[in-house]
Amino acid sequence: MLKKIGQHVRNLTTRNFAIPVSNGTEALYLSLLVNGIGEGDEVIVPNFSWISSASCISMVGATPVFCDINIDTYHLCMDSVRRMVTSKTKAIIFVHLFGSMHDATDLKQFCENHGILLVEDSCQAFGCTLDGVPAGSIGDISTFSFNTNKVISGLTGGGMVLTDNEEVADKLTKLSHHGHGEDFEYLGRNSRMSNVDAEHILTQMNSYCDQWVLRKEATEKYKFNRPTQKRPDGLISNYFRHTIRFDSKPDRDKIKDIFGLKVHYDKPMSENSMYKSIKHRKDFCINAQLVSDTIVTLPILNKAEPVDEIYTMLVEKIFEYPDWSVGSHHEKIVEAFYAIARNPE
Ligand SMILES: Cc1ncc(COP(=O)(O)O)c(C=O)c1O
Repeated sequence: MLKKIGQHVRNLTTRNFAIPVSNGTEALYLSLLVNGIGEGDEVIVPNFSWISSASCISMVGATPVFCDINIDTYHLCMDSVRRMVTSKTKAIIFVHLFGSMHDATDLKQFCENHGILLVEDSCQAFGCTLDGVPAGSIGDISTFSFNTNKVISGLTGGGMVLTDNEEVADKLTKLSHHGHGEDFEYLGRNSRMSNVDAEHILTQMNSYCDQWVLRKEATEKYKFNRPTQKRPDGLISNYFRHTIRFDSKPDRDKIKDIFGLKVHYDKPMSENSMYKSIKHRKDFCINAQLVSDTIVTLPILNKAEPVDEIYTMLVEKIFEYPDWSVGSHHEKIVEAFYAIARNPE
């Protein structure tokens, strides 16, 4: 079953090797480990993502260097990378967020010029393409997550590492299975994907396009005239998440509380308590802070977050306010949300 799923994802991503592992965090961790990244090394990462994008760096003993994001795309900002790169920078992790894709053309060139390993965190981007290029095919090494909250998931989760380098693939396969080859060649992990998860994931992969269409339709029902993530032309999205931003944190929090909405993510990764005691460096991350303070995730059709009445209420209300615009009609939006909350009929 593991061979089968590896083959399937290799075909989808046009990579030479796809190694199934237990989850996306493990995939990222092993990607750094197999490339010898460790103590004394620095790894650059955008400061707005799920925590695994950064914790994997600390787990291998290297130092995360947090960079700011672009205010429109929420992806890694190249100017910030240029400010933070040093001779210790051994890798850069870039993230495709929310079912969008980071156009990594400049970043890839930058890494090539500086001899820096490019790690592609495609954990949220399975099935996405940008100008026909699949997520998972861009980094020197790339990762997927099949966490139960993802658009395609295992019963308990799952992950995948992708590479074109045979030596790396061979070592990583061994590392994910106690370092076992001829004998126990390396200090390894017990992090293979389970057959049960593999089977579950494969079944979904055969029909994922239907789900994409439903998610797209659900997303497009939202007509908020509020800033949302700017997605590149040429993107085919998996519609993982749909987010909008408000003008201030108190306004966002008000909406979030009334509707019980989720926030991805409510603080830049570097601002979590764990980094008080873990070595790191960071740029001024003004955009990462601003987006964290003002973003909210709208419910969309998803097996993990079924369409609920909030969604229906929001959509119906939205059509009554076609002229909502950024800033000027802000009060109206808040009022409308309050009205819905008071009178759900
Ligand atoms: C961007 C990103 N990176 C890494 C991960 C880690 O994946 P997992 O939850 O499978 O460990 C996730 C998802 O949870 C993610 O969204």
